Amino acid sequence: MGDLRGRENFSSGLAVFFATLGSALGLGNIWKFPYLTGESGGGAFLLVYLLSVVFIGIPVMICEFYIGRKTRKNAVGAFNKLKANPAWKIIGYMGIISAYFIMFFYSCVAGWVYCYMFKALKGDFVSITPRSAEIQFSSAVVGPWVPLFWQFVVLTVVAIILICGIRKGIERVTKTLLPVLFVLIIICDIRAVTLPGAQAGLNFLFNIDFARLSPGVILTALGLAFFKLSLGMGTMITYASYFTDDNNLILTPVKVAASDTIVSMLAGIAIFPAVFSFGLEPGAGPGLLFMTIPLVFSQIPLGSVLLIAFFFLTSIAATTAMLSLVEVPVAFFSEEKKIPRTLSVVFNCLFIMVIGALATLSADGAGLLGKVLIFGKTFFDLFDFTSSNILLPLGGLLIALFVGHQVRKEDFRAELSNYGRLRMDGAIGFIRFVIRWVTPILLVVVFLNSIGLI
Ligand code: TRP
Repeated sequence: MGDLRGRENFSSGLAVFFATLGSALGLGNIWKFPYLTGESGGGAFLLVYLLSVVFIGIPVMICEFYIGRKTRKNAVGAFNKLKANPAWKIIGYMGIISAYFIMFFYSCVAGWVYCYMFKALKGDFVSITPRSAEIQFSSAVVGPWVPLFWQFVVLTVVAIILICGIRKGIERVTKTLLPVLFVLIIICDIRAVTLPGAQAGLNFLFNIDFARLSPGVILTALGLAFFKLSLGMGTMITYASYFTDDNNLILTPVKVAASDTIVSMLAGIAIFPAVFSFGLEPGAGPGLLFMTIPLVFSQIPLGSVLLIAFFFLTSIAATTAMLSLVEVPVAFFSEEKKIPRTLSVVFNCLFIMVIGALATLSADGAGLLGKVLIFGKTFFDLFDFTSSNILLPLGGLLIALFVGHQVRKEDFRAELSNYGRLRMDGAIGFIRFVIRWVTPILLVVVFLNSIGLI
């Protein structure tokens, strides 16, 4: 069992659930999931996504929880404490690099969301047309000052919450705001499914067309599963290091993955019926949320209130997810390098702001750096692609191999059964088998397939 002296932890099982779900719920659900489903052809993509969650997502989450709670350390320190071969620390370092890569572009998109909430409050979308939706999007995105300003606001909010600590910061914010998010999304859904022509959108989301599946689509679905569940980079190691001793490390991942998937579906249900009802393009890419949503909501009764609700719930999701991302390097620097927590938060947020500006200024191929290409990609796309499609699945593979093949069976059993207090021998044995063989093999196959080797 972990040593809690001098280290904060979450106060209860409920707090653990909300904090972890807060990390999982984010732009991945409300922005990435709908536009990737739109681009990749709806239901078939969804099916691959669900399979990835069950056979890869949940097992990897269990592995991360094991490492984090057992050691009660940050993503790098955990491997020292497990007395693993130092080579395994690469998982932790890779995790910190991917955390930064994700935050560089994530803080930019979160800034757009804050900006849109502010615009919705001001009533900017009242008499919007398709043309003016585009103009509004480019003024919020191309900037340069507007998006940089909002990115700064996001990072400031995140920094303040993190400085308040684990219980007073992360726990309090996630416990208060996630229920609000849930209610708001249900309200948006009720409006969306009662629109004329909503059925076409639901069909699009749930109809399964295998012809649309390609290796690229499969890799994207897998990458999305990692991204949505905050896996493969030490976020869940870090959060689990604050878990209570009696938390059920098998049930929590199942509950979090199920809730996260439900919220993604609810987001899809809020968006696609409306998109189809107004004859818009479901594969509109990253702009889907920002161009189509204001347009659609401005044309329905109560739309302006719903629009504020929608961008507010998206801001909540983005903020609680950012907390968990920034916490990874914050915990690393304050524990391994002995930098005081507050300083570590401020330093990390400033760093993210400075490099994140590259993403912000190149987003959507517009802006000052929009034409600067590295390996054929803008900074924004490069950060996104390298983290979601390469670093996270690779990190997940290494984590599964480590827990499956380096950790002793008895240790694994002991931690997952809370030292004998939970009777789940059969389940633990099955999970260990999946982690040892099924998850790594699937991950390797998908990888090789996507780079054209098989
Ligand atoms: N899961 C979050 C989302 O869906 C993003 C996120 C938070 C994340 N922490 C992460 C993604 C760690 C990958 C790894 O928006």
